[in-house]
Amino acid sequence: MNQVLGVIGSPISHSLSPVMHEAAYEELQLNCSYHAFHVESTQLKSAVEGVRSLGLKGINVTIPHKVDVIQYLDHIDPLAEEIGAVNTIVNDQGVLKGYNTDGDGYVYALLQRIGKTLHDKRILIVGAGGAAKGVALCLSKYGVKKMTITNRTSSKAEDLAVICSRYSDTDYLSLEMAQAELAEFDIIINTTSIGMAPNFDQMPLSLENLRKGAFVSDLIYNPYKTKLLIEAENKGSGIMNGVDMFVHQGALAFKKWFNKEAPVQIMKNSVIKHLGGSI
Ligand code: ATR
Repeated sequence: MNQVLGVIGSPISHSLSPVMHEAAYEELQLNCSYHAFHVESTQLKSAVEGVRSLGLKGINVTIPHKVDVIQYLDHIDPLAEEIGAVNTIVNDQGVLKGYNTDGDGYVYALLQRIGKTLHDKRILIVGAGGAAKGVALCLSKYGVKKMTITNRTSSKAEDLAVICSRYSDTDYLSLEMAQAELAEFDIIINTTSIGMAPNFDQMPLSLENLRKGAFVSDLIYNPYKTKLLIEAENKGSGIMNGVDMFVHQGALAFKKWFNKEAPVQIMKNSVIKHLGGSI
């Protein structure tokens, strides 16, 4: 019997998850289909009940439901609980289990791209919202040399730094100080929406003091290269856009549903093709 999976969110029509997951099912000849479901906040509870009653194998959860969905699940994975957000639900014979694969997806992507350990890296995270929390917590659990959080609202950077300090040496800086001390960092990660279409000319911080050989990454993939990444590349830096994190969070969700490795490269190719990028 065909097994149904999907993603719930609002807006959802531009989600690349169906393209990516269906490419994986085709590659592995799985008798499954993956659909995007538009779900407003007022319908969240009944949508989650629908997953159970209709027997969906699992779903992804995206904006704006990642936090609110937790209350409707039967079991929350400890990492998702700590992050305070769920992006993947497994329907285990009627028991709904919530996970968060965003942060670990980012760490996997970064490790693959850098090709070596992160234990000796000093990392600057720009932003302190939901996306930043998953990425920062997973990086600090992985064990980086030093992590600094910077954010427009400093109090949120401080709160996140306190949480991450449980696992790694983490502090926070004002945006002005982070820009002034940018040469101290090996990896800079933008987790904010600054630079996302249609605001192509915006940057979350100045790269004037970027250290030679530093690596710059952006969670945004629309545009494919943000102004931040274009400037970093012009300065000779290695760069990574949000596609890698998106693909790896999807691959980790796939593994939770099917208990086998996902065809990561096939999934990535399908996303890049859809975005009009070059593989
Ligand atoms: P997400 O789940 O995508 O992380 P979020 O939790 O709303 O979304 O967090 C958005 C992040 O982008 C925050 O760090 C936010 O800064 P504030 O905490 O000061 O609000 C940052 N951000 C968004 N728009 C911004 C802007 N125009 N200038 C500076 N920071 C911005």
